[in-house]
Amino acid sequence: MKNAVYTEAQKAKFINDTKHLLSLGDDLPIDAAVASELMQQLGDVIRFHDHLYYLDASPAISDFEYDQLFRRLKALEAEHPELASADSPTQRIGEMLSENFESAPHLTPMLSLDNSYSEGDVLDFDRKVRAATELEDVKYLIEPKLDGGSISLVYENDRLTRALTRGDGVMGEDVTVNLRQLRTIPLQPQLSQFGIARMEVRGEVMIAKKAFAEINAKREESGLATLANPRNSAAGSFRMKDPAEVRARRLECIIYHISLAEDAAGNDLLESKFNSRAENLEWLQQQGFKTTIGSSAMASTGGQIHGIIENWEARRDDYPYEIDGLVIKVDDIRLAEKLGSTSHHPRWAIAYKFTPRQARTKLLRVDYQVGRTGNIGPVAKLEPVQVGGVTVSNASLFNEDFIAQKDIRIGDTVMVERAGDVIPYVSGVDIHARKGDEEQIIFPANCPVCTTKLERPAGEAAWRCPNYACPAQALERLIHFAKKDAMDIDGLGPATIERFNSQGWLETLTDVYQLPYDKIAKLDGMGQKSADRIRAGVEASKKRSPNRLLFGLGIRYVGETMSKAVMKHVTCIEEFASWSKEALEGIPDIGPRSAESLFDWFQNKEHVKILHDLKSLGVNTCGESPAESAPAGPLAGQTILFTGTLAGLARRDAEAMAEAAGGKLASSVSAKLTYLVVGDEAGSKLEKAKKNGKTQILTEAEFLALLGK
Ligand code: IVH
Repeated sequence: MKNAVYTEAQKAKFINDTKHLLSLGDDLPIDAAVASELMQQLGDVIRFHDHLYYLDASPAISDFEYDQLFRRLKALEAEHPELASADSPTQRIGEMLSENFESAPHLTPMLSLDNSYSEGDVLDFDRKVRAATELEDVKYLIEPKLDGGSISLVYENDRLTRALTRGDGVMGEDVTVNLRQLRTIPLQPQLSQFGIARMEVRGEVMIAKKAFAEINAKREESGLATLANPRNSAAGSFRMKDPAEVRARRLECIIYHISLAEDAAGNDLLESKFNSRAENLEWLQQQGFKTTIGSSAMASTGGQIHGIIENWEARRDDYPYEIDGLVIKVDDIRLAEKLGSTSHHPRWAIAYKFTPRQARTKLLRVDYQVGRTGNIGPVAKLEPVQVGGVTVSNASLFNEDFIAQKDIRIGDTVMVERAGDVIPYVSGVDIHARKGDEEQIIFPANCPVCTTKLERPAGEAAWRCPNYACPAQALERLIHFAKKDAMDIDGLGPATIERFNSQGWLETLTDVYQLPYDKIAKLDGMGQKSADRIRAGVEASKKRSPNRLLFGLGIRYVGETMSKAVMKHVTCIEEFASWSKEALEGIPDIGPRSAESLFDWFQNKEHVKILHDLKSLGVNTCGESPAESAPAGPLAGQTILFTGTLAGLARRDAEAMAEAAGGKLASSVSAKLTYLVVGDEAGSKLEKAKKNGKTQILTEAEFLALLGK
């Protein structure tokens, strides 16, 4: 572990530097020497804050401020790649992680819960509790049973000192450094004001279903293997080597139990300070923890327990996190202590498990689906089976590597799972059920639809059909084009698109704007009204913003956010046809993969023709033109940047003149930059402008001539 120790004087200096760096505006320095110094300073300051955050558990700035510093450094490195240092925090990999994860004992053993699968079992549990406590009515706290990775957290003297995985219940793996990445884990709760010197809490690390879907969509777009389910992805992230990746998983920690609270002398405070489990959680919530309390309910009769179970069974899918049941707990802490535990589980709680969403069935064959960008997805065709109330006969097999790793064969007995909104997937195979006649799955070499030879780019998980005109891709592309977050064409949903496609009316993007409405009106179940509605939807889509159109084109690695980001740099989409790859790479927020994909797309004349055809059919390809809003003058609508030392003009005066002439001052060289005025000793900016081939390079005299001076 790279573990610098900072003196008080250094700390004071870095805090001061932080304030200074945060006070600087967004503009990037033009001078290389200034930039270099700033980059050095930012690197030092970020490392300092990383240390405070990850190792001392004592951050001095907000996440927002940290992100500002980080972003600034990244922007500078993009602007001056030659000055970027190899040990910049933007390049950090695993630096803050201990080499491996050692095991350490839990303060109190992490028991598991007794499981029940029927309401009858839960009512039995209630009877036993009442018999043992000799009470008429017992109050229960009923919480969702979170399905993620279990952890325990230890706080000593108001600091998070240890985070352990469940391990074998007695010893767990020390994953403190990784779990400090989670913003839902308070690092410095002020427990001493309650007399608490040491506390141990239990919880579950989760990925919200929505976050999970977004992460997977991004991974898919980048050609990475998609994650199977939120549970494995949450639990699997504890042991990651790169903290940045842990962050990218968007994990949350939800606490459901205090297992120990002591004062400095080691006296137990759990019973003396609190009365109930619900109160515990409520208090934790106030101390900055995320807990199950908001989703919990109280019950004290069999009827109430029944009502709550029924309610949860019905709403299970609406809950933002994966849950596999409910936990019913005796709410009164003293009563619970009296009931005690067996060596395996507490007698004061029971888990009620929902019908499992996993089933065994036979794999009949494998089909291969062609996606919008040509990705080939293997789909398991199964003997139909009930999985948590839904009949499943198709399930994802993810990719070739997944099939190989699990050694899945045709004829195998496989496990099928369903998790939240994720499509059903094969999660494993029962090797013991093999008879010997199972067949190896051979990934096809050619596209199952257009027979083009498939490609698998290095480092990617999926095989691809490279044929843009592949009918399967074309259909998926049309569905994508018309969908809500792209061109949002009312009346043109997937089923309608497929129908028109099979009629031969809708095969390419330009067909969308040339639909035979008279024929559509005559289709079974359509009529004039439906045809008019589709026509209105199609007409309305012509006016969508160009970033929606760019996204709708379905270019690989060019998602919704990327489309918005790149469209800020042009007025009309078709301008990208004349951009170099380097110029595209120069756009902040665009990665090399997206830049390359965008570049390749526009290099293809057929693609550019589609765009022009769409334009001539009335589709808007342009956004607000910067020229329209800029003031008049010889430089109206143009961007300009000065570099090097000018002979006759002070930099400041030259800039003022350019602005007065209607020009906009740029802070960096990109292909969008119209003019670069070069003085003596111009450096990397001149090189960059020469490379992009779009920026006009002017001498000081040419600049003055341009202004008519
Ligand atoms: S209470 C002494 N509450 O499920 C045990 N556990 O299958 C106290 N779990 O070991 C546990 N959600 O890892 C409790 N709301 C919840 C829970 C929960 C999930 C986990 C926990 C437990 C396992 C048992």
